[in-house]
Amino acid sequence: PHEPAPEQDLAGLRMLVTAGGTREPIDPVRYLGNRSSGRQGAAVAAAAALRGAKVVLLAANIDESVLAGVRELAGVRIVPVGTAAELEEAARAAAAGARAIVMAAAVADYRIAAPADHKIRKEDAPGQAPTLTLVENPDILVGLVRDRIADQIIVGFAAETVESEDELLERGLRKLARKGVDLLAVNAVGWETGFESGENELLVLDADGHVVTRTAGSKRQVADRLLDAVREELRDDLT
Ligand code: CTP
Ligand code: CA
Repeated sequence: PHEPAPEQDLAGLRMLVTAGGTREPIDPVRYLGNRSSGRQGAAVAAAAALRGAKVVLLAANIDESVLAGVRELAGVRIVPVGTAAELEEAARAAAAGARAIVMAAAVADYRIAAPADHKIRKEDAPGQAPTLTLVENPDILVGLVRDRIADQIIVGFAAETVESEDELLERGLRKLARKGVDLLAVNAVGWETGFESGENELLVLDADGHVVTRTAGSKRQVADRLLDAVREELRDDLT
């Protein structure tokens, strides 16, 4: 079925979107990763492009099946990245030209202090489980907020395991205060929900901690509601 072309209400908006999950090498054949599929961030990039935005999508280890629908869109440039360090470098470079930034990627909080330059082999230390020493990665989002250029709208994501809706809001508000973003998209995740799924449920907070959007549906529908909130932040700067 042919969907009607969406209104070009983001025409000319330069956007940076990060998506997927970073992988931190342990040795040449292993990594520390997370379960982010990149679907929600890819959906944001696609929805923005269909509304007229020019998007750079920094794709951290996203499966080609997820990227396929984005790749065919004019208006999206996909840049693959692997580690948090690579994502940081690419994000800094792309941020300078972006009016809006949506940081949907799941960034590894820690990396292996000294990845082995050869495969770690059991026979090198029989019966001895290795100890992995971790160091904290820089907070890319906080860095972008610190170095923001005038009028830039910066959106963070927070995936939280929570026991209740109240706890989700409370954790969202705390994260919002720590990050200094204009909008924070908060969603509940768990063993069963959130990652590989095509559906999502988001709470969007503005810088004052107000819930500006509560939305559930396909990741594409959710992306459009989030972009409505971004559009609202830009107010009448776009014509
Ligand atoms: N983020 C980032 N760089 C990091 C960690 C997180 O840019 N090193 C960004 C994510 O892309 C996301 C936001 O910060 O937009 C929130 O990520 P999250 O993991 O929920 O927050 P943390 O500050 O890492 O807190 P924690 O994992 O302890 O809940
Ligand atoms: Ca984290």
